[in-house]
Amino acid sequence: MTSEIDFNIAISGTPGTGKTTVANSLQRMLKTKLVIITELVKQGKVKFKLDEKRNCKIIDADELDKVINEKGVIIEGLISHMLDCKFVFILRCNPIVLRSRLRKRRWQEKKIRENVDAEILDSIAISASQYHKRSNIFEIDTTHQKPEQIARIIRKIIQAYIRRRHKKFSEEYKFGKINWTKDYGKMLIRNINQNSHKVMLKGGESNRKEN
Ligand SMILES: Nc1ncnc2c1ncn2[C@@H]1O[C@H](COP(=O)(O)OP(=O)(O)O)[C@@H](O)[C@H]1O
Ligand SMILES: [Mg+2]
Repeated sequence: MTSEIDFNIAISGTPGTGKTTVANSLQRMLKTKLVIITELVKQGKVKFKLDEKRNCKIIDADELDKVINEKGVIIEGLISHMLDCKFVFILRCNPIVLRSRLRKRRWQEKKIRENVDAEILDSIAISASQYHKRSNIFEIDTTHQKPEQIARIIRKIIQAYIRRRHKKFSEEYKFGKINWTKDYGKMLIRNINQNSHKVMLKGGESNRKEN
């Protein structure tokens, strides 16, 4: 099995945007190793602290970098954009569609709202821009495309980079292209007015720690 890449790439995004599904598809295409952060946690390979208030696990990204310690891998997970990698692909999803995907998980409505708000507010993209050059961050709208199509787009961006044609090809997916606030800002304000939660601005939180 010869991998097509000798650098790491991160697949990040709000829960429900399709990270795990797309990463598995991409793994088959690129014939490379896939590191799923939640699996590392389940296997006890990464230490974490429990944030009981927010009901989530806190992982130290520096420690996670040390545990992964490999090149040529796809890293999938909610904090993958904080890790050592060449490119970050952030999967995005229309907030209404995302809400219905998350409802299928039977999560508490409060947790669903927090995540939908985070999606509207570009939280992951903002956070990623604190760790990587904007030109190495791509945002892909998953709303109307199948996971395999998204994996193909990611592969094309990587191949274009290898052939040094990357900037032209990836214009459509460049950082900042997706803006949900224009059409879905009202949804956000409604959530805030309900005053039942604190908007989770992931990018604004302290140093490389996430759930
Ligand atoms: N591109 C897509 N179009 C429609 N449904 C999708 C797409 N990607 C993922 N899904 C579905 O959405 C749900 C969340 O996908 P998943 O890969 O688990 O997301 P994540 O890992 O980001 O939480 C799953 O039920 C999955 O089948
Ligand atoms: Mg997942």
